[in-house]
Amino acid sequence: MLVFFNGQITDQEKVFISPFDRGFQFSDGVYEVIKYYPKRFFELDAHIARLKNSLNALEIPVPNLDNFKQILEELIARNNLVNSPANIYIQISRGYQFPRRHNFSPDVKPTFFITVEKYLSPEEELANGVKVGLEEDIRWHRCDIKSTSLIPNVLSKHRAAQKGLSEIIWHRKGNITEGTHSNICFIKENSLFTPPLSNFILPGITRKVVLNLCRQFDIPVNETEININGLKEFDEAMILGTVTEITPVIKFEGIDTNLKKPGPICRLLQREYKKLCYE
Ligand code: PDD
Repeated sequence: MLVFFNGQITDQEKVFISPFDRGFQFSDGVYEVIKYYPKRFFELDAHIARLKNSLNALEIPVPNLDNFKQILEELIARNNLVNSPANIYIQISRGYQFPRRHNFSPDVKPTFFITVEKYLSPEEELANGVKVGLEEDIRWHRCDIKSTSLIPNVLSKHRAAQKGLSEIIWHRKGNITEGTHSNICFIKENSLFTPPLSNFILPGITRKVVLNLCRQFDIPVNETEININGLKEFDEAMILGTVTEITPVIKFEGIDTNLKKPGPICRLLQREYKKLCYE
């Protein structure tokens, strides 16, 4: 595989990062995941804007992104992925700093890394829905930054996988925030409900696209707190993300809900989302 590393496209085998890179020592970095659908980069401008916000929040210098799209195009082409959907992973860490110190010096040069990977759509999950679990959200208070410090996400997702669940949905004091790698929304009486944007959730780009689709199709949108005690009220639930797309949720482990199978609003949103990706 060919990857982008600090200004050059090069063979995966030739990339080495120092153990003194602050990304390795402190998880001191940010990332983005962008979807390529032949032949477009989905919501590229929104991803670039969020990447800049994350970098600014961590005071990591924003690299020159003028030729970013050309780099992505070249990576897709040279990895023979022009005709298939692909996930693009972008990571920028604060960079190499020796000796190890918690505080960072202003002259550290960021490490910039991009990979592309063929993406096979999880048709079964999109069609039939998934089971999820609920856990307390123990993350920090800046979950709006797409930081590579993902230990709570890793551990929750690992527990989910061990139990045969697709995702863990977190709550803070009973109020739902988001999943380990997705946002969440619910449907009640043909209206959509989703937790409001705040420092406790990532401003998901799929979430934004879905809310716009709702407005276009006259589905009322409620960005409001959702308590885990009220889950029984909902007719449908979906997890949303660049990789997850719009995946119906058919069960919350250990909780009695009325979610049984993917509902009509989910189907409408999936159909319209697909059009945005491919048409
Ligand atoms: N995850 N919330 C969290 C915690 C996420 O990690 C993600 C995305 C989302 C959805 O955001 P978007 O719609 O912009 O992809 C919400 C990426 C895909 C990942 O970590 O792989």
